Amino acid sequence: MTMSAPISLSTAAPPANTQGLGEENSIWFKLTALLRGDHANPMRVLLQMQDRYGPVIPLNMANQRVVLVTDPELFKYVLVTKADNYIKYFDGLKPIFGKSMITNDGALWQKIRMPQQPAFHPDVFAEYIPYFLQAIDAKMKLWDDLAQSGETVEMVEQTWTLAADMICKALFDRDMPFNPHVVFKYVKTYTDVMNHKEIRQKRQAGELFEGTEEDATKAIEAWQAVPPAVIAADPREHRERTLLTMIEAAVADPNIPEFDQAQAIDEIKQYLWAGTETTALTLAWALYEISRNPEIADRIRAESQAVFGDREPTAADYSSLVYTRAVIQETMRIYPPIWGLIRVAAIDDTIGGKEIKAGDRIVLFAYGAHHNPKFWDDPEAFVPERWTDKTKKQVKYSYIPFGAGKRSCIGGAMSQVENTLALSILLRKFQPEYVGPMPAGIHATVTLTPKGGLPFKIKRLA
Ligand code: HEM
Repeated sequence: MTMSAPISLSTAAPPANTQGLGEENSIWFKLTALLRGDHANPMRVLLQMQDRYGPVIPLNMANQRVVLVTDPELFKYVLVTKADNYIKYFDGLKPIFGKSMITNDGALWQKIRMPQQPAFHPDVFAEYIPYFLQAIDAKMKLWDDLAQSGETVEMVEQTWTLAADMICKALFDRDMPFNPHVVFKYVKTYTDVMNHKEIRQKRQAGELFEGTEEDATKAIEAWQAVPPAVIAADPREHRERTLLTMIEAAVADPNIPEFDQAQAIDEIKQYLWAGTETTALTLAWALYEISRNPEIADRIRAESQAVFGDREPTAADYSSLVYTRAVIQETMRIYPPIWGLIRVAAIDDTIGGKEIKAGDRIVLFAYGAHHNPKFWDDPEAFVPERWTDKTKKQVKYSYIPFGAGKRSCIGGAMSQVENTLALSILLRKFQPEYVGPMPAGIHATVTLTPKGGLPFKIKRLA
């Protein structure tokens, strides 16, 4: 049994503020200037720049140099070969992540990540499967009602609440101790970087509109209340091996004084964003593509019937859901939730022959590599089979939905289990139908989100 200490709630709530929102120096603010050029898909502006100017594109933006990097070999250079020289960048997002490990670098990052790493070992997340299934089951009950009422729902919100329930049940041994719909809406206010500029302009003009700073403050307050609620909630089963017990053990460990109570709170915050937003977007975009291509739904249903039939799927079954997993992989190629990875150059350097100055912001354009015809046949087509066709060799680092190198996603493999199982099980009973404009537009926030959401009607299969 692990030594653990309860996490104190007194460290939980520094005063709410909108720090970083629309800050002139935030890279998110700067990128909006570029991304506004194409309203249906702002990514196309960057794709055109990639075509025209090559793999390293330095841009002078006000007092800052932003360097757009689009080549897989150079992703490797920044994320793997010279990872220590390109450090994490989180200006403008601190209220979301606090000082959690995702924002740290060097020895401190290592000290914080190490005690949590075992929670994401495949043997350990196999133990989470029953809890993922319970969350999917709760969603199915809700979808039964939605199918009856015939109302239109926002799919990203549906999948976000599912992902948050999975994290709470599996990783924290808690039922979701907050209203996920409220938290979802408020946090979106903050991560919608395209909105930041507007908020900032209104603030400068002395205006305070609905959906501006007042909302942003509420968003931060709602967000700050979440980790204390998780900690205070009753454990569901008093399981010994969960991410939360590992975090508690780290707080109690005198060898890692840096892992204090406040750190624990921020780690929980981090998981409830990094582990929900990205997973939810992937599942929602997958359902959108499937709704447009009913033959994909048929293949997913046939696979689930063949692999687990009418019983509950197990960890071993997950490995056999090859086609369903390919649908998830293809979704993350076309719609990488993290469309650009951001770093700051710690020292002067050269990338792809172009001079880099310490302080330059580096944007590794994952979406660009995922859509580059040099690496993918017919890159705009949604073709899950490209992941099952073993005769085609992929160019290394041309697919980086989870990043690469030592800072790659801690929960990436687990998220594929969550989404593959969710897709497989939900489609057994339901036919979610996308009812929004075709094609759905793209909105580049910190993540790649659907413009105006993904409205769906839930139909039950006969
Ligand atoms: C489709 C699902 C997911 C995607 C696309 C995704 C994507 C990413 C990416 C690209 C990074 C690296 C960012 C960078 O290098 O700047 C990252 C890091 C991270 N992700 Fe995920 N993620 C997903 C799911 C999850 C889940 C389920 C969890 C946990 C429950 C999680 C927790 C984290 C954490 C804690 C980090 C920071 C790791 C570190 O800095 O050491 N993610 N994720």
